[in-house]
Amino acid sequence: MSAPDLVLRDITYERDRLLLSGVSVMFPAGLVTAVSGPSGSGKTTLLSVAGGLICPTSGTTDYAGASMWQGDGDPPAEVVFVLQVYGLVPVLSARENVALALRARGVRVSEADDRAESALERFDIADLGERQVEELSGGQMQRVACARAFVVAAPVLLADEPTSELDERNRDVVLRELRVEAARGAVVVVATHDPAVVEASDRHVVIDEGHLAPAHVPTAGADPRDGRWSDGVGSRR
Ligand SMILES: Nc1ncnc2c1ncn2[C@@H]1O[C@H](COP(=O)(O)OP(=O)(O)OP(=O)(O)O)[C@@H](O)[C@H]1O
Ligand SMILES: [Mg+2]
Repeated sequence: MSAPDLVLRDITYERDRLLLSGVSVMFPAGLVTAVSGPSGSGKTTLLSVAGGLICPTSGTTDYAGASMWQGDGDPPAEVVFVLQVYGLVPVLSARENVALALRARGVRVSEADDRAESALERFDIADLGERQVEELSGGQMQRVACARAFVVAAPVLLADEPTSELDERNRDVVLRELRVEAARGAVVVVATHDPAVVEASDRHVVIDEGHLAPAHVPTAGADPRDGRWSDGVGSRR
């Protein structure tokens, strides 16, 4: 059986004003979907709804027949985030931060440490494993945040501007690893301002002032499933 897609239907999210309005979109398993749009347009809010951190005011999220919202703001076990603000523990080392994600999921210490080491290698920061996070540069922290999410090999990976502080070489490393995650069948969603990230993605969702906008990329050859869920999705396949 193929891996499940993540489907959002008619999502509205309201705080003191409407931050998301009528957003219906499918994030398919096995593909990288880029979400772009101006600062403040709702990308982080959309990812937060998609991953079960916040409850939509109306509309539904559906992954494998269950809602992503679990009633308490904890994401389901299937979901990992690369947060825009990283969310690392400053006084722990890079390796400890990465291993923590596995320990929290019941992986025993020695295996968690080994896998953390490999995850740091994926992002070319194995040499920084012992360094306390508060002693790292912004771009190095961002790569630790990527390692901490990717190490889990979760079926749903939601990455919020994971390349915003990276130079071209390291951005390409992250893009390569996003593709690796999709290739093993994960739902991969990446919020970004970077045209190179959009270019490297399979699909492109544009959000503007909380609404899905027409995508900028050609839709020729689009996944026929798109039409059911969104008018704001471009596809390269
Ligand atoms: N908790 C909140 N309460 C009220 N307004 C909020 C809250 N969180 C975000 N907003 C507002 O919602 C809008 C969308 O924010 P969001 O963080 O989703 O944008 P974004 O597209 O991720 O922007 P950026 O590219 O700067 O990261 C913004 O106008 C923001 O100020
Ligand atoms: Mg954001």
